[in-house]
Amino acid sequence: MEKIQQVQQQALDQIEACTDLQQLQQIRITTLGKKGSISSLMTMMKDLPATEKPAFGQQVNDCKKTVSAALEKKQTLLEKEALDRQLQQEKIDITLPGTALRSGTLHPLTLVRQEIEDLFIGMGYTVAEGPEVELDFYNFERANIPADHPARDMQDTFYINPQVLLRTHTTAIQMRELEKAQGRLPIKVICPGKVYRRDDDDATHSHQFMQAEGLVVDENITLTDLKGTLQFMADRMFGKGRQIRFRPSYFQFTEPSVEVDVSCHLCGGKGCPVCKGTGWIEVLGAGMVHPHVLDMAGFDSSACSGFAFGVGLERVAMLKYGIDDIRNFYINDTRFLKMFDRFD
Ligand code: DAH
Repeated sequence: MEKIQQVQQQALDQIEACTDLQQLQQIRITTLGKKGSISSLMTMMKDLPATEKPAFGQQVNDCKKTVSAALEKKQTLLEKEALDRQLQQEKIDITLPGTALRSGTLHPLTLVRQEIEDLFIGMGYTVAEGPEVELDFYNFERANIPADHPARDMQDTFYINPQVLLRTHTTAIQMRELEKAQGRLPIKVICPGKVYRRDDDDATHSHQFMQAEGLVVDENITLTDLKGTLQFMADRMFGKGRQIRFRPSYFQFTEPSVEVDVSCHLCGGKGCPVCKGTGWIEVLGAGMVHPHVLDMAGFDSSACSGFAFGVGLERVAMLKYGIDDIRNFYINDTRFLKMFDRFD
């Protein structure tokens, strides 16, 4: 019995003094393991008189339980300590300054394109796109500008081969949409996209720029529908109360054709440097779709009519945001682009 006491006390002392989990596992083996100190107490049993055996056995079992419980308790304690230590080590100092995640901004031309799309979608238009590498057929022929027509020289064109070119205007998309409709009415589309011309780049010219083409074809569409539509667009793009005026012009694909001015949003029409003292700013070309254009696309021009317009997005953005050099849109200087985050 004394021996049991002694083994138990020794085990408990070891457990008490133990400071890490590995060491504790070692103690578990040297006490409760097969050849451990407690297990080997059992071998002493065979030398005892039969009458003492049950009490001895009982005592060894109690010793086992006591030591097991002590091991368990210590294990829990050491595990908790280890966890506390880890938490302490991995603690995040939330008082340190954070790393700012800088987000990009929408490009000013994207803002203007989306604004135009939104306002026309609001009037029941759908948005249509077309290829930038376009056929001469849609860019010129269907727009009533046949081969050798002098008007072709006005739009210096990047030709890929005699039939294929980089589209010079979104009017090419208009011609595709007309054809796609196969004579069905009505058509109401807005067609934004990039266009290309062999221009030398300067403050107001770019060999690549953006336009949005508008097209409506139905029965009884008149010039007043065009005017009302453009008035609405001017109010939305440049602020309420803008006036618009039509000046006679000429495009091959419209008859009559007009040049559209909007009253200056900076001086309200009194005259300032932006409107060059005139009170008016020219923003787009428009007109009634030429009957021949409708007929070529498979419509009966005696039974329907349409209006169309083409607006330069850089020009709108420059006027809206007071940008004085078109190259700003294309050199991707983030100091310039960042200014448009407030317009999102
Ligand atoms: N395509 C013309 C240009 O690029 C703009 C234009 C004028 C488009 C009149 C039209 C229109 O749809 O009706 O200069």
